[in-house]
Amino acid sequence: MKAPLNTLSYTLFDLFLVSQSVLSVQKTMNPKRPCKRFILYYHDILLNGTDTSNATSAAATTPTKLGDFVFGLLVVFDDPVTKNQNPQSPPAAQAQGFYFYDMKTTYNAWFAYTLIFNSTEHKGTINIMGADMMMEKTRDLSVVGGTGDFFMARGIATFETDAVEGFKYFRLKMDIKLYECY
Ligand SMILES: *[C@@H]1O[C@H](CO)[C@@H](O)[C@H](O)[C@H]1NC(C)=O
Ligand SMILES: *[C@@H]1O[C@H](CO)[C@@H](O)[C@H](O)[C@H]1NC(C)=O
Ligand SMILES: *[C@@H]1O[C@H](CO)[C@@H](O)[C@H](O)[C@H]1NC(C)=O
Repeated sequence: MKAPLNTLSYTLFDLFLVSQSVLSVQKTMNPKRPCKRFILYYHDILLNGTDTSNATSAAATTPTKLGDFVFGLLVVFDDPVTKNQNPQSPPAAQAQGFYFYDMKTTYNAWFAYTLIFNSTEHKGTINIMGADMMMEKTRDLSVVGGTGDFFMARGIATFETDAVEGFKYFRLKMDIKLYECY
């Protein structure tokens, strides 16, 4: 009779320890204290007309007739990402994915893409998605996962529009904060 009781109390004790550690993980997740943080610049160099020499992104659909803010226009990109504002500086990563415009009453986009790192500094990927409310000064998108050096990453990517040149180019400052690092 004694052995099963002991086993039961050990099991309860284990459950207690597990729940304690889960609680302590939640407590340490402070928005002001990411475990990894870096600032990168995303350069969207759009194909305008037929000059394909520098472009790294292109509209893949034509806008619908809903509203005046290119609702339904989808852009696919393989854009350079650098550590500073100069698009010609050596890329830190590639941003591959898409965005589309999805509001009738203002310019508003929705992004889903992968940052691909393949340098001596970092190897791996970070996956980012969410709404880009372009009229706000800063917008928070979700870091939903990662691989390699960013195994199982989760966090927030804060966007800020850094430059806009008509339909040909825009630059976003991405402040990437990870809250789960392994
Ligand atoms: C190309 O850029 C011009 C302005 O520089 C703009 O008026 C035109 O709509 C753009 N074309 C496309 C296909 O984006
Ligand atoms: C393409 O990029 C080069 C530099 O790499 C620049 O000198 C040139 O002006 C760019 N062309 C266009 C059409 O933006
Ligand atoms: C990463 O870089 C190495 C060396 O430049 C190259 O051989 C390899 O194909 C690259 N991998 C990817 C996934 O781009």
